[in-house]
Amino acid sequence: MTNWIIFWLLAFSSCTIARAKVIEELIDLLNRNQHEERQLPGVKPRFDAKAQRIDVSGQHAFKAPGPGDQRGPCPGLNALANHNYLPHSGVASISEFILATHHVFGMGMDLAAALCLLGGVFTGDGVKFSMGGATPLVPAPLGGILGTPQGLSNSHNRYESDCSVTRGDLYQYGNAYRLQMSQFKDLLAMRNESGNYNLETMGAFLGKRFFQCINENPYFFHGPVSGLLVGNGAYPFVYRFMGNKSAEYPDGFLDRRVLKSMYAVTGEGDNLVYLPGHERIPENWYKRAIGDEYTLAYFLTDLTKVLIKYPHTISMGGNTGTVNSFFGIELHNLTNGVFNGATLLQGNNLACFIYQALQNALPDAAKPVITLGFTIILALLRPLTSRPGSIGCPQFSQFNSSLFDIFPGYSEYRPGGANDAIEQLVRSLQSK
Ligand code: HEM
Repeated sequence: MTNWIIFWLLAFSSCTIARAKVIEELIDLLNRNQHEERQLPGVKPRFDAKAQRIDVSGQHAFKAPGPGDQRGPCPGLNALANHNYLPHSGVASISEFILATHHVFGMGMDLAAALCLLGGVFTGDGVKFSMGGATPLVPAPLGGILGTPQGLSNSHNRYESDCSVTRGDLYQYGNAYRLQMSQFKDLLAMRNESGNYNLETMGAFLGKRFFQCINENPYFFHGPVSGLLVGNGAYPFVYRFMGNKSAEYPDGFLDRRVLKSMYAVTGEGDNLVYLPGHERIPENWYKRAIGDEYTLAYFLTDLTKVLIKYPHTISMGGNTGTVNSFFGIELHNLTNGVFNGATLLQGNNLACFIYQALQNALPDAAKPVITLGFTIILALLRPLTSRPGSIGCPQFSQFNSSLFDIFPGYSEYRPGGANDAIEQLVRSLQSK
């Protein structure tokens, strides 16, 4: 896996001194990482205050975004830019995103690489992307004939999804990257008795939000990548990454104070104020334990736990133009009978399904051109889909995504991103 990341970074990075330094640091980090003593699965992470404390002073003191700085739907990335762990502009290379999310939030390199490669391919120029909207810092590839990369904020239904934790649905609010206070207040009201917004709380919130989206958004769409993987997946992220780790709570305790700060919300009681883009890592905040990074396997295990408890959130489909008109596509129709609702969460089927949904998300016409980035993501998923004792992934010849065409929330895409641009180019070349 490590070699894949290095290979990809070398293949795609330009040869500037700065970029070479990032690669050097990454290789060094990966090497150090390999030699670290890994904590055993099932064993409580060991808390190490010195190693886990995140510096928010000096050069990492909070600085609000200025004019032209990009901030978008991801509170984690916004906070990293506000604390100078990522460029303040909100635009960074894939290697910079991977390093910063690993260093500050303890995101596994494989999970970070998968998310960032999707960001680069769907919303950037294949090498860098904006955590907010389109910007001259990510110019259109090949002098503009391919269209302009639109950034994470404009990636609706390719990356950014409906029914997010706090972000509003595009067709309800006109943007899908800002926090909606009503959703945030609903989240605050969900805490368990101890005051911890933990995995159970976040799962329950997803279960509730799913019905709310069906009831309120006539164009609600929940597809395999943007819905099942990214949309549902963001719910465990809240606790796993934002939770404050300590000797008493090595897995993390996420209280109201930390949650508000990470979500750019100030004020008390009902008088809460949201300042878009001002996500802030609080003082005395400790990240995940070293060796207990949140990897792809860890994430898929959490996601499976949540889906088992709230199986309605597996449904893939959408409303058909009016509220409460949700129509679910049968999984066996989508996958030519290979998977069904009862078997999706068994064994390695969820990883297999995501693996093949990602393959499908790459437009056919663009495959020859940008397959490399996707090959890496698929290579990262492969160990999960061929675990010892498993018989590998059941293959289905075709992913019938045309079944989604009946949903207006799916078919009304926005343009942009390297994949659209390259798809257009390849199509135009093919038609000549
Ligand atoms: C590694 C690069 C990352 C990328 C490319 C990325 C991208 C995204 C995107 C596109 C969304 C919007 C999904 C939606 O519409 O629901 C999102 C949401 C989210 N991300 Fe990230 N993310 C990354 C890393 C992180 C990290 C390190 C954290 C740690 C706190 C994080 C926490 C979240 C949370 C909590 C949400 C849900 C936002 C909400 O609706 O309240 N992400 N991310």
